[in-house]
Amino acid sequence: MLWRLKAIVYDACRDLYPFSKVYRQEVAALRSLCSELELVKARILDIGTGTGTTVKACYPMHKNVTITDKSISMLRRAKCSTGLSRCVVADAATLPFKNGCFDVISAVGVLEYIANSAALMDEMHRIGIPKASVVITYAPRKLANKLRYFLGHPLHLIDDVQFGKLLKNNAFTEKERRFSWLQTQILMTITDF
Ligand SMILES: C[S@@+](CC[C@H](N)C(=O)[O-])C[C@H]1O[C@@H](n2cnc3c(N)ncnc32)[C@H](O)[C@@H]1O
Repeated sequence: MLWRLKAIVYDACRDLYPFSKVYRQEVAALRSLCSELELVKARILDIGTGTGTTVKACYPMHKNVTITDKSISMLRRAKCSTGLSRCVVADAATLPFKNGCFDVISAVGVLEYIANSAALMDEMHRIGIPKASVVITYAPRKLANKLRYFLGHPLHLIDDVQFGKLLKNNAFTEKERRFSWLQTQILMTITDF
């Protein structure tokens, strides 16, 4: 319900200062991580796609992209703004995709909304091929993020140690990370044991 309301104002808010500044910083960080990716022929999945901002920022020329979100209102907007047709309503903790069917997976600005964050990591590991690239962000435990509690959703803020624990048994190998005001952005690969 709350995401249905947020969907209406989501993009408009990002045009307003200081959100616009934060957003530009995040997009720059994501673009720089995604510039490392081999995207030609890649099967790409964007989880918690929202209104499609990550797709437009990082994979603007690519059509082999599936977008998924648990909010149908967000997904409708993403479908319009990206022109993509593979849109799947799903909870990130139980994704309806076969094992090993994506080469690149992104989950930007999503982890902090998921109570069972380990389930999201398990799902990404399951649906990605060995050595698949994963771009994920988390919201560090700091005052600016704590203020986001007033936007209505329960937030699961974590620190480096807790994020490290999510990469359990070295199932993911971290490649690079960037930092913006509200996010830590990480590029990693699914470890090929
Ligand atoms: C802050 S928005 C981020 C959207 C987009 N990735 C971006 O960076 O602009 C968070 C999105 O995650 C979605 N979301 C929240 N919990 C989810 C869950 N359990 N499964 C799937 N999507 C979820 C929300 O509907 C919303 O669209």
